[in-house]
Amino acid sequence: MSNKSDFGLIGLAVMGQNLVLNVESRGFQVSVYNRTEATTEAFVAANPGKKLVGAKTLEEFVQSLARPRKIQIMVKAGAPVDQVIEQLIPLLDKDDIVIDGGNSLYTDTERRDAYLQAKGLRFIGAGVSGGEEGARKGPSIMPGGPLSTWEVMKPIFESIAAKVDGEPCVIHIGPGGAGHYVKMVHNGIEYGDMQLICEAYSLFKAAGFSTDEMAAVFNQWNDGELQSYLIQITAKALEQKDPETGQPIVDLILDKAGQKGTGQWTLVNAAENAVVISTINAAVEARVLSSQKKARVAASKVLQGPKIELSLDKKALVAKVHDALYASKVVSYTQGFDLIQTMGGKKEWKLDLGRIAAIWRGGCIIRARFLNRITDAYRTDPSLGNLMLDPFFKDLLNRTQQNWREVVALAVSNGIPVPAFSASLAYYDSYRTERLPANLLQAQRDFFGAHTYERVDKPAGEFFHTNWPEVIG
Ligand code: 6PG
Repeated sequence: MSNKSDFGLIGLAVMGQNLVLNVESRGFQVSVYNRTEATTEAFVAANPGKKLVGAKTLEEFVQSLARPRKIQIMVKAGAPVDQVIEQLIPLLDKDDIVIDGGNSLYTDTERRDAYLQAKGLRFIGAGVSGGEEGARKGPSIMPGGPLSTWEVMKPIFESIAAKVDGEPCVIHIGPGGAGHYVKMVHNGIEYGDMQLICEAYSLFKAAGFSTDEMAAVFNQWNDGELQSYLIQITAKALEQKDPETGQPIVDLILDKAGQKGTGQWTLVNAAENAVVISTINAAVEARVLSSQKKARVAASKVLQGPKIELSLDKKALVAKVHDALYASKVVSYTQGFDLIQTMGGKKEWKLDLGRIAAIWRGGCIIRARFLNRITDAYRTDPSLGNLMLDPFFKDLLNRTQQNWREVVALAVSNGIPVPAFSASLAYYDSYRTERLPANLLQAQRDFFGAHTYERVDKPAGEFFHTNWPEVIG
């Protein structure tokens, strides 16, 4: 063991512990500190022979680190991060680096960045994705902050990140809150992916598939175009039996979804930037409605729906749902990247969308084969406006749109809710519609509020008003 550690981590919850073991396994000596001393002791004792230094106090922890110190905070997002930062400040020296690796709101990150900079310290807000296993074996990391600070952190970040085709799943995302912002949208996309998979499951269930049959479908999909971590774990979750009853565990899990807030933040930010993220929106709202279990049970007794009749044969249904899922997923990523691009432009973050897609290919929760296609799309045309117009995605949508709408129609006529499939399809159809009914909407606005309108037969930018009849007698 050397005199001083290369890296320090505060907060030994599951993610923190796994990250420490990851960093240590790459040859670095790591100091750890946790508010509850017993947790630090137990962690160090459980990992004998490793280059770990367990500190009893924050002072001892800081003193055990080589300068400039590199300290990652892995505590609950919000006030706890500020508290740890406040405790650290008097103990640190100029140019020491503090990294917040939690799911912090990007505006908090911007505030902390400015605050620590003013004190001569350096700050990195880093999104870390991959859950427990990813943290241990290689997460996808989305660090934001000054480029010069990234250069110092690069060797550690690159060695602990997941690798795809030899490339580490980490890049410098951009200044200030850019890293946490991109992680937030990653989570919004994650919500969308999860909901779309759940809608496919819901259709299969209504069609009478057993959980083992469904697991086989997801396993098969995981060998094809839909290959992704979330499809893979869905198959595994469906296969899992409850040791107590022998039943599929998913049948015993209560249908009330939780959420910690990143999906909602994404919606709020999209609304503020006038970007449509209807798939993610549907996914967040589906979790909200699912959580109202008592109300749904009561409503199920009084509100009627159609009799479920899914007459398609199972193989045909699987093929159609596959296409509906793939096409909806493309729409969801189109919207997510639109949001990232819009916000990146507004903040002048100079984001590289192709490289962001590339670091999501491994380590993170939304890792998937098709992300290569997004990277290719932005590499070929960095100014690509809407991902659906990239030649690969355009062909894919044209090829799948018929099955996609048949799935949505089938679900609607059977009363099976598919909010994310249908929101995605509505986006696709709206976006490809040359003349939307917004002409009538403009007439309505002008009617009641003299808001004026442009005309199809006059130059753009010229506004007109009609003297509409009075209707209040
Ligand atoms: C990840 C995950 C991780 C976590 C989120 C989402 O990228 O590793 O997104 O950050 O799962 O907190 O959690 P909720 O579903 O509870 O909002």
